[in-house]
Amino acid sequence: MYLEKTTQSFEEVFGKKSTKNFFSPGRINLIGEHTDYNGGHVFPASITIGTYAVAAKREDNLMKVYSLNFEKVGVITFSLDDLTYKKEDDWANYIKGYVLKLKESGYLIDSGLEMVIFGNIPNGAGLSSSASVEMLAGVVFKEFFDLDLPTLDMVKLGKLVENEYIGVNSGIMDQLAIAFGEVDKAIYLDTNTLTYEMVPAAFGEHVIVIMNTNKRRELADSKYNERRAECEKALSILQTKLDIQSLGELSSEEFDAQKEIIGDATLIRRAKHAVYENERTQLAVKALKEGNLEAFGQLLNASHQSLKEDYEVTGIELDTLAEVAQKVDGVVGARMTGAGFGGCAIALVRNDAVDTLKEIVGKTYQEVTGLTADFYVAQIGRGAGKL
Ligand code: GLA
Repeated sequence: MYLEKTTQSFEEVFGKKSTKNFFSPGRINLIGEHTDYNGGHVFPASITIGTYAVAAKREDNLMKVYSLNFEKVGVITFSLDDLTYKKEDDWANYIKGYVLKLKESGYLIDSGLEMVIFGNIPNGAGLSSSASVEMLAGVVFKEFFDLDLPTLDMVKLGKLVENEYIGVNSGIMDQLAIAFGEVDKAIYLDTNTLTYEMVPAAFGEHVIVIMNTNKRRELADSKYNERRAECEKALSILQTKLDIQSLGELSSEEFDAQKEIIGDATLIRRAKHAVYENERTQLAVKALKEGNLEAFGQLLNASHQSLKEDYEVTGIELDTLAEVAQKVDGVVGARMTGAGFGGCAIALVRNDAVDTLKEIVGKTYQEVTGLTADFYVAQIGRGAGKL
């Protein structure tokens, strides 16, 4: 349905037929939050909602892009010779940034494209709509220009777009999850070595429900960068005594033995989250592999608590969703997912308890926040590529 609409729109907007179709997913993170820029482990999965694109080559060096999600913005045109960030280019900056990074890395893009995109990832919900568009750009340009672009390099360029072009100092989790995703598998990634393992996301009688706060992620980017800077500060103090490159190298015992030298209560809590969350992630993957969903769920709950109390990236909306969900009969665990400050939480729920979860959490959430939450059962789907 989405692809047909995108194809039809391409013909209407550009008066010609598109030649190739693409899809790039969104992602959830099961556990391992705010660990990816601390050299820790993460455990995300690509989901079946994402961004579709259809495109065709042009003869000149102009790019003309249109999004069905931002129809009012209209067709955005830019030249391959001027890829500087422009606020008025809106969402297309993610494409421009990606093309710029490709060119800077020596890839030859010898003509422009027309492209229409259409996403069904709720906007600003923390399900990585921006990384989805970046990886979409990666697969589109790789395909049209026959680029020798290994998937991991495609991922790294996406991260560079966020860090250097958009100005968010994010880690590599989102782009990697989106590019390498596979149906019904989650990615157990060590962000220190970039080695990963595809783990069956087998929850038996249980499903993952995504719970959207529908709260705009205000100040999310600046707070995100602030957390990252706090972790770097804590690390640099620890490095005066310990021979480590990242917080992810420390066990919780090693951290507890040394933490006082950090000398600042807030910085200690931030670093503690990074260290303990990394450990929780490793334990959670082990529990899942052993089929111990109860242990897995408890680690999800502990992750949320740490993100609330030590890392302070949740807020009343995410806390209400996660904490009310945790008490519903049939829920094994629940936590915020993604950067935080609004966005989405996830709950691991027994099939027959999904309706009760929606009812109880939805009602309490409305009473507490005045907002309406949305619920979707997550399906873990393929990674970014040509259709
Ligand atoms: C955002 C970033 C990721 C990661 C998460 C938090 O999604 O893009 O790199 O840091 O937040 O785990």
